[in-house]
Amino acid sequence: MSYKRYHELLQFFILILVLFGLPQSTTALLPEPPLTKPYHFQIHQSAASIGQKNWDSVQTNNLSPFTSFNYLHLLESTGCASPSTGWTPIHVTVSTQSTPSPPPLAIVPCYTKSHSFGEFIFDQPWAEAAHDNNINYYPKILAAIPFTPVSSPKVLIHPNVTSHSEQSNIRNSVADYLTTLATNNNLSSVHVNFLSSSEIKSFPSPYHHRTSLQHHFTNISPTGSKFHNFSHYLTSLKSKRRLSLNRERRKISPQIRIDTLTGKEIQSVPGIHDVIYKLYESTVEKSGKGRLYFTSSFFEKLIASEFCNNVVLIIARSTSSTDENESIKASDIIAGTFNVVSNNIFYGRYWGSFTSQKYLHFEVCYYSAIEYCIEHQLDKVEPGAGGGEYKFLRGFEPVRIHSAHYIRNEGLNKAVGEFVEEERRSINEVMGVEHEHEKS
Ligand SMILES: *[C@@H]1O[C@H](CO)[C@@H](O)[C@H](O)[C@H]1NC(C)=O
Ligand SMILES: *[C@@H]1O[C@H](CO)[C@@H](O)[C@H](O)[C@H]1NC(C)=O
Ligand SMILES: *[C@@H]1O[C@H](CO)[C@@H](O)[C@H](O)[C@H]1NC(C)=O
Ligand SMILES: *[C@@H]1O[C@H](CO)[C@@H](O)[C@H](O)[C@H]1NC(C)=O
Repeated sequence: MSYKRYHELLQFFILILVLFGLPQSTTALLPEPPLTKPYHFQIHQSAASIGQKNWDSVQTNNLSPFTSFNYLHLLESTGCASPSTGWTPIHVTVSTQSTPSPPPLAIVPCYTKSHSFGEFIFDQPWAEAAHDNNINYYPKILAAIPFTPVSSPKVLIHPNVTSHSEQSNIRNSVADYLTTLATNNNLSSVHVNFLSSSEIKSFPSPYHHRTSLQHHFTNISPTGSKFHNFSHYLTSLKSKRRLSLNRERRKISPQIRIDTLTGKEIQSVPGIHDVIYKLYESTVEKSGKGRLYFTSSFFEKLIASEFCNNVVLIIARSTSSTDENESIKASDIIAGTFNVVSNNIFYGRYWGSFTSQKYLHFEVCYYSAIEYCIEHQLDKVEPGAGGGEYKFLRGFEPVRIHSAHYIRNEGLNKAVGEFVEEERRSINEVMGVEHEHEKS
């Protein structure tokens, strides 16, 4: 099944959801939260109120940089994720009641949302169906990282909790707690997005499991080792793909120079945060449907912070205006990507261009990213949401993404259950076809 067909199917299913409507039933009955679990939950209106020390203590090195205190706190302090943008932080801490002021056993980054923007797990059709049936959908509860379609654990557990059974008790009780929180506050639903694959089983029924697709590049050669270099990677491709890749790379004008900057190199270019912001802004504007989630001040502070050690910029500039060895000037940049590298994963985040050269996009978003990944012996490239077909044709393989959803309204809950089943079937077909396609 092609992507086009897959999207048609989804559209069709969305239509069914709306046309047949939903039973006008009342709120679902909730199971009583189990009283046996010895955990104490607390809601915090900001990352700052939990405190960096507590947050750092649950954010071990193995976790995503996007669940770090620095990243989430910066989103809040620069007003990107705030009540006025429809993101009200309600971060949850889990503790044992025994000690007076215990450091948390776990933290769950959490928000109430008054819309569905910036989530990248698209529940707008559910919101529309709710609307058509006079069910309030917003506000809803969302446990996720704002504006960041990256899979990672969402229940951040203190490394002292080493027993697997206690870890799953904590996750299970978080799942229960969030449903109770929705009920007690008359919120429509709970959504836990971009869960790690091991976490999803801790969100059992009444949660629905949703599967979505992303495309990742995995740095494993056919012999099982990492690729030695980019040409080694090229030789692993089927000739048709290799030829088209080479052709696309050659389409970049020789006047355009591509550079990769990290950490201090980025910090040493005056005004670069503003160019990053403008590149990001240009893409949101061109797409015509996105929202500007990030502010210039967010990028300025992020670049100035320690987080910059994880940032990789791939920039294109015109060599006619620049001596090869002259230091890079922010004003010479014509296109680029903002990426984050951590734990051997290259996360492609934002792309932008001040020119309209089609192949420049493939170069800075895909090929240079794969090249960087191979050169630095990283494990994979996760280029973010969207663009499936483009990415597949350029070396990225489909992978399943997980989310969990609990809807209080019984009728809507049933419809959403059917929706995610249907969607899962379409995705299985896409995965099956692409894998066969690969083998042939
Ligand atoms: C809860 O929400 C429903 C609509 O979804 C509304 O009719 C009802 O009045 C609300 N109850 C409270 C206590 O706010
Ligand atoms: C974790 O262990 C360290 C020492 O092993 C201890 O000082 C700390 O209080 C413990 N933290 C928690 C949350 O139990
Ligand atoms: C790339 O790796 C291959 C081995 O896979 C090697 O033969 C080749 O010389 C390398 N090319 C460069 C430019 O290092
Ligand atoms: C740029 O610098 C390199 C060495 O860093 C040197 O070999 C090259 O000649 C320089 N190019 C120009 C145009 O000065």
